[in-house]
Amino acid sequence: MSYERNRLVIFLCRTHQSGKEVLPMNTFGNNFRCTTFGESHGKALGVVVDGCPAGIPLTESDIQPLLDRRRPGQSDLTSQRKEEDRVEILSGIFEGKTTGTPIALLIRNKDMKTEDYLSLKDVFRPGHADYTYQVKYGVRDFRGGGRSSGRETISRVAAGAVAMKVLGYTGISISGRVIKVHGKTLPAEMEAEIRAARDAGNSVGGIVEVIAKGTPPGIGDPVSGKLDAAIASAMMGIGSVKGVEIGEGFHAAALFGNENNDEMVPEGFLTNHAGGILGGISTGADIIVRIAVKPTPSISREQKTVTVTGTPATISVQGRHDPCIAPRIVPVAEAMIALVLVDCLLEQLKYSGFQAFMKNNHA
Ligand SMILES: Cc1cc2nc3c(=O)[nH]c(=O)nc-3n(C[C@H](O)[C@H](O)[C@H](O)COP(=O)(O)O)c2cc1C
Repeated sequence: MSYERNRLVIFLCRTHQSGKEVLPMNTFGNNFRCTTFGESHGKALGVVVDGCPAGIPLTESDIQPLLDRRRPGQSDLTSQRKEEDRVEILSGIFEGKTTGTPIALLIRNKDMKTEDYLSLKDVFRPGHADYTYQVKYGVRDFRGGGRSSGRETISRVAAGAVAMKVLGYTGISISGRVIKVHGKTLPAEMEAEIRAARDAGNSVGGIVEVIAKGTPPGIGDPVSGKLDAAIASAMMGIGSVKGVEIGEGFHAAALFGNENNDEMVPEGFLTNHAGGILGGISTGADIIVRIAVKPTPSISREQKTVTVTGTPATISVQGRHDPCIAPRIVPVAEAMIALVLVDCLLEQLKYSGFQAFMKNNHA
């Protein structure tokens, strides 16, 4: 395996395809556009939200409670990194309301322990993004994983808080929870699994469910703009998420048609196996999303790896890591759904606004 050669091949493929270097994908959304920036051990992280409608009341106190839910170090079952995660609004607000211009949100890093990562400078952590970042860019911020760190998700939660303010005008509400850890579903058992894994220098994965209530029917676009595809893309963009299902999801493959179909009566759907989406468009029923979160890659158990030059090595990752990422992902997943729904709602308003314009001017 030659890491230098792999990197060269990737570089050549990318330049051949486009004629120039492809830009990294740090921006998502079409109408409510978010660009996140910052690294785990850099000066700060943040997000620029462009496309937020004007006139929405917004202060730091709308964003801070959501960041507080995501913050590490709040229990012995999460990373012990102690961060205040105070958000500063740098732009886009005048007299307490959004102005329709880009909203820049900044969160400064304070409790970095870069010395914990010096031993990882020249080796790849199994299960983490070290190898792929190295092979793609030829340079890697090994301090806390740089942008591949779970800390990047603070920017998404901050942007999601702005999206939630917009959703406040629509009657849509979003809530998530951990429904399974390492196969266990009872809260005490889930906690015990995490504690046991942590004490054994190991980690466990889990399943998070997020439900959006109150989405009107008709949101999302068919074919390549499907709402379920947008949700899946947003969820898979979160580090450590390895599967997404909507409604019955994978279980639908084991059902008969009459079991999986949601029969209709004049009052609405009798069931919601579809998870609130048909043909990529919302049905008006609850949007039900579940994501599979893998076990945390950084574990203190000794594992085989290689150095950046391909020499065999062993690794035992020290430092402050989450023994299970699933609980930390709940506010992140809620934020991502909020961002997708606001983006799709704004798209729908353009569409219905155009229809109204046509009706008024060409009736
Ligand atoms: C909120 C959050 C916290 C995370 N905490 C850790 C951690 O403490 N240690 C770790 O090795 N990975 C952690 N991760 C996972 C890595 O970021 C992720 O596994 C890595 O970037 C590789 O990407 P992939 O798992 O999506 O392939 C966390 C992810 C999230 C979203």
